[in-house]
Amino acid sequence: IPVASFDAVVFGATGDLTMRKLLPALYYRFRDRQIPDDSRIIAAARSPYDDAEYRALAAAALERHVPAADRDPETVAGFLGHVSYVAVDGAGRGGWDDLARLLGERPDQVRPYYLATSPGLYGAICRNLSAHGLIGERSRVVLEKPIGHDLASARAINDQVGQVFPENQIFRIDHYLGKETVQNLLALRFANTIFERLWNADVIDHVQITVAETVGVEGRGGYYDTSGALRDMLQNHMLQLLCLLTMESPLNLDADAVRDEKLKVLRALKPIPPHDVPARTVRGQYVAGAVGGQPVSGYLADLGNERPSLTETFVALKLELMTPRWAGVPFYLRTGKRLPQKMSEIVVQFRSSPFSIFPDDFAREPNRLVIRLQPQEGIKLEVMTKEPGPGGMRLRATGLDISFEETFNQRYPDAYERLLMDVVRGNATLFMRRDEVEAAWAWADTLLQAWTERPEPPRPYPAGTWGPTAAIALIERDGRTWHEEVG
Ligand code: BG6
Repeated sequence: IPVASFDAVVFGATGDLTMRKLLPALYYRFRDRQIPDDSRIIAAARSPYDDAEYRALAAAALERHVPAADRDPETVAGFLGHVSYVAVDGAGRGGWDDLARLLGERPDQVRPYYLATSPGLYGAICRNLSAHGLIGERSRVVLEKPIGHDLASARAINDQVGQVFPENQIFRIDHYLGKETVQNLLALRFANTIFERLWNADVIDHVQITVAETVGVEGRGGYYDTSGALRDMLQNHMLQLLCLLTMESPLNLDADAVRDEKLKVLRALKPIPPHDVPARTVRGQYVAGAVGGQPVSGYLADLGNERPSLTETFVALKLELMTPRWAGVPFYLRTGKRLPQKMSEIVVQFRSSPFSIFPDDFAREPNRLVIRLQPQEGIKLEVMTKEPGPGGMRLRATGLDISFEETFNQRYPDAYERLLMDVVRGNATLFMRRDEVEAAWAWADTLLQAWTERPEPPRPYPAGTWGPTAAIALIERDGRTWHEEVG
């Protein structure tokens, strides 16, 4: 579906996010003819490039981040024809008149301003946009995470941006919401009557959410070391997954209908009392090990060995939701860098029946619904079946399996492709509202505070393992185990 023609201004245009994600995403949308002819992508950063120099950088980025099979010289040239460059000092004065002149040529375009800069610049860029008369009814501002590092700093950023943009023109990105399988959670829950009836504490024993990465900090140590796994992944991406998994049905798919329901989940997160924090949370930090058969260095070496660090690269915790539907159901969440495989999944484990007609020594596993977010996106229901053969009633867990790749046999667009076009359309359903971000921080703050008050070094785990053994103990103490694949 084509969108309205737009002038998108990308601040931070020479940065990693623009090169790795935004330009490739826009390129694919161009290739699929979704970018109207008179649309412009205006790259803005401080370096004194001209259009040709920036296009050369953009071309190199596409070569690196778009597979050769998806690129041909004509399409790349066509795309770069939409791209121009303005040298602008986001927080200072330089370049703003040039930008204003350029945008003034087409005052009626939809105008997304994408802030792919450090959040410290959001306020200043917004003030400059306003001072130069660049904000109109068709303008939108897109904010990347992290929106703050705690509740107070998130509020400060939201206040600064909110002084010049009304809330319905602010698009806070959580790129997990743009992932196809994450949106499939909505389809799974609200387009299938079978699951929704089982979706509550009477039937569900517990839920696990794992977001595992094999990468380390990849040259992002400067940012990551001030953040850590709780702030970088759990406070945003994983809580958003939790929201879609557990929220009540919204009345429709309108942005506020969905966000109202997500907000209720975030407000229902039961604070973990400080004295329980050591027992309910596990922090880890990777040390040298091997991932995929290759030796890799530890976190401190990745940072440059300049000083010790107490930042966690792994976190596991147990949380609860105080709602009639979910009270009493534990949710186990874990995420980390340098784990054995890149894998994000949600496991919903159903209660076992207290009675069985099968002899006790016949293994009986509970039913599980496994939602695979990446890679090999799909949904699997683990059910008990009889093993073939005359040897009696032997049971085995097997999977009723939908692989999206096999079913749909088409390329999965990157999350940013969907989200960028939603900004142009003005559809904020997959973006976070201010109150959501702040509710998520309010909950995370209680943990961060408890960790700060009783500082303990994170537990070391060798790269290529599933985190510290304490993370296994966290769930096994409750008589449960982290999910492992079944055939
Ligand atoms: C980002 C985090 O938000 O998400 C990164 O800052 C992380 O640390 C990334 O690697 C993971 O995203 P994806 O899409 O690869 O799962």
